[in-house]
Amino acid sequence: MTNIRAFSSKPAVFENNDYEIIVESPGRINLIGEHTDYNEGYVLPTAIDKKIVLKFQKNHTENFCRIYSDTFKKGFEFHLDKDFQKTSGWEDYIFGVVQEFLNSGAQIEGFDCIIESRLPVGAGISSSAALECGIASGLNELFQLQLEDLDIVKLSQRAENNFVGSNCGIMDQFSSVMSKEDHIILLDCRSLEAEFIPADFKDCQLLLLNTNVSHNLADSDYNSRREECEATIHIIQKEKPEIKSVRDLSFELLDKYKAKLTGKMYERCLYVLKENERVLAAANALKSGNLKSFGELMYTSHEGLQHNYEVSCPELDFLVDYSRDKEFIYGSRMMGGGFGGCTINLIKKDKIKNYIEEVSAAYYQKFNVQLDAISVSPGEGTRIFKN
Ligand code: GLA
Repeated sequence: MTNIRAFSSKPAVFENNDYEIIVESPGRINLIGEHTDYNEGYVLPTAIDKKIVLKFQKNHTENFCRIYSDTFKKGFEFHLDKDFQKTSGWEDYIFGVVQEFLNSGAQIEGFDCIIESRLPVGAGISSSAALECGIASGLNELFQLQLEDLDIVKLSQRAENNFVGSNCGIMDQFSSVMSKEDHIILLDCRSLEAEFIPADFKDCQLLLLNTNVSHNLADSDYNSRREECEATIHIIQKEKPEIKSVRDLSFELLDKYKAKLTGKMYERCLYVLKENERVLAAANALKSGNLKSFGELMYTSHEGLQHNYEVSCPELDFLVDYSRDKEFIYGSRMMGGGFGGCTINLIKKDKIKNYIEEVSAAYYQKFNVQLDAISVSPGEGTRIFKN
């Protein structure tokens, strides 16, 4: 018997307004440092001022759970004491988190949760991590499970790895939970040490341009990039057991093993080593207010993602190339896993309106697809309100 019953009309129970717990769970951007997190490298992300709002209450049953999305206008019910089956939809992020809680022996009982999302799906701003972390934070509060913020981050990442099947790193969940308003995080994904850098972009703004395309079939391209990096490490480890991840490689060591690697494996790792250096350089540029250098690093990062890591696509490349000769744009690059989603652009505030009109028209003419522009500001991580 399947353990899910879908419905489309809002159950009356969700008409009440005294939820016990309300969670605001934000999406994230990443300024630079792509595909470095699962290689134990550096990233420069932050949460944004756009979020998912989740409201929770216990329903005083042992096992019966009811979820409703006010955004999709549909919901589902399931039982905690029966197996969860994958749906390949948004339900999986919730099942994944609940499953991780159950695996850890946490005492969860029946609950109702209503969700309203102000995050576009598939735009590369991690609506999935926001949903996972939002559910995890809400259940943690509702049932007094005593998890620390970092436990929530790790549990949500495990939900995505184990149930959803995307072998993602920790960046998205970490930024969604731990960010501080008006700061960017320089995160060492090995030690999880975080430095919070004030986000001072002067007369510039961060602008996302959503290609509205996705060429990443069921995360298989993403996972295969990770496998290529891990396969490289396995080869090198045979002779050098102290090498645990791409983070431990130097350019010299990688070159030494070049003949034992496929061309692709070599290119992937070379990209990661260079990207790690770029992240550290970009963090320094941000601290010293050098937006020009910061922007140049964004462009070089994109070139690496396009040619060496090969996770870009014609739509993203078009948008980055389109920005290149505009003196009011400091930098532009694809953001997130790639194969579609957004570019992130550092652009002078007073030029945004005209640029959106111009680039949208050009993009539509080239691909016959509507472009969406989203202005974002660095925001605070998960916020929890109790009634
Ligand atoms: C996705 C993953 C992250 C990270 C980025 C690429 O967003 O969820 O863990 O690997 O891609 O940087």
